[in-house]
Amino acid sequence: MRSHAGGRPSSLGAEAPVRAVRATPRPAAPPGARDPLPSAPVKANGASAFRTVPRTGVIFVTAEATRRGYDGHDSAWCNLGQGQPETGLIEGAPPRVEEVVIDPRDRDYAPVAGLPELREAVAAMYNRLYRRGMPSQYTAENVAISSGGRAGLTRAAASLGRVNLGHFLPDYTAYEELLDIFRAFTAIPILLEPERGYAFRPDDLRREVAGRGLSALLVSNPCNPTGKLIGGEELSGWISVARELDCALLMDEFYSHYVWSHVPGPLPMESAARYVEDVDRDPVVLFDGLTKNWRYPGWRVAWTVGPRTVIEAVTSAGSFLDGGGSRPLQRAAVGLLEPDVVEAETRAIHECFRRKRAWFVNRLAEIGVELDRPPEGTFYAWGNLSKLPPPLRDGMGLFERALDHKVITVPGVFFDVNPGKRRSPQASRFHSYSRFSFGPPKEVLEQACERLEALVAEARNE
Ligand SMILES: Cc1ncc(COP(=O)(O)O)c(C=O)c1O
Repeated sequence: MRSHAGGRPSSLGAEAPVRAVRATPRPAAPPGARDPLPSAPVKANGASAFRTVPRTGVIFVTAEATRRGYDGHDSAWCNLGQGQPETGLIEGAPPRVEEVVIDPRDRDYAPVAGLPELREAVAAMYNRLYRRGMPSQYTAENVAISSGGRAGLTRAAASLGRVNLGHFLPDYTAYEELLDIFRAFTAIPILLEPERGYAFRPDDLRREVAGRGLSALLVSNPCNPTGKLIGGEELSGWISVARELDCALLMDEFYSHYVWSHVPGPLPMESAARYVEDVDRDPVVLFDGLTKNWRYPGWRVAWTVGPRTVIEAVTSAGSFLDGGGSRPLQRAAVGLLEPDVVEAETRAIHECFRRKRAWFVNRLAEIGVELDRPPEGTFYAWGNLSKLPPPLRDGMGLFERALDHKVITVPGVFFDVNPGKRRSPQASRFHSYSRFSFGPPKEVLEQACERLEALVAEARNE
């Protein structure tokens, strides 16, 4: 295959227009101008066949910090841009896995859909946690394993037909490229309003799905970055609308065990699986994995759960996209889904992160960072910076200044997902926002907040 910027493999069966735009270096922004596209193209050296691939927000901020000496381990730095939870032992959690024995059978490829025993363990876990006593139960055939969540989402995006797919603003940065790379479907943005605390009720969903002709919808729940949770009756209402209007809900539940508001059931976790009636008919597809909810982002073990026909489609996509996940780690993951382990890990996460959340949200308020809504889920605070002095009231300004103090934050504009960069970068509603992660250990948060406070005091005196 030869293609220029924006070209794509013909095996995906579409005639994408060739767009050279991304290969063109951007002119330097005028001094003082907002430059929300610092994901400046990474030039492919001497390879004119390649397009320039923008970096996702978190990768961009890490790269910028690295240029200034951050190496990921230097304790002088505080990484509030961190997209992962702390991965060490936390009080009450089962011991961390420190060794994985490789069975000789695991030298072979894993099946693209995943090891049968892990698929079964995932199905059993959903039935146990969310579907007790319900006539329709998930089986291994409702589960596909992928190497990480983005691989699962990519398989799903590659399997969509020529439909309108709704997605929310703001939402997870990686959706931006994901929603642009497979041109079969059309990505339609839906605005969430800060003034309404990013609420989106079943009636709003009905209006958007029917009005814009959406056949699919992608959403992170709880939401990265706002921390908004759709749970309980509201989530049940969403699923009724999806069932009635035949709109596939792609529910990214990577933070579903980081839930801070009340949810049904004995454990602090929520999933659309609780409200699905028929697992093979309801158009509901779930994405989750070990990345956040088990605190093993490096394992790259994730799953997609949904109707059998969807699982067959995403598995076919996986066979050309990635070839399946790591076999030894899938085998090792089975033990992590044991009921006692899931319960202990979830309770420990809840205790540890609930305390960090309460402390962090207060501390941010003292510094002058306001939240449109306290996070009901995730380990992020979506900070409104408009009460801070300039230049800190701009997410990029804060990011730049905080780097000087070895604190990493993620500017809000990165979450204003803009597939294909069709919207002007100036036109974002989230210039004055920043995402602050309370994924790191408490000591790191404390140090970071002290430095941010000093930074704000400094800016007020300028
Ligand atoms: C909302 C959301 N979904 C999915 C993922 C995917 O995780 P991974 O590909 O690292 O497993 C992330 C990671 O940051 C996320 O924030």
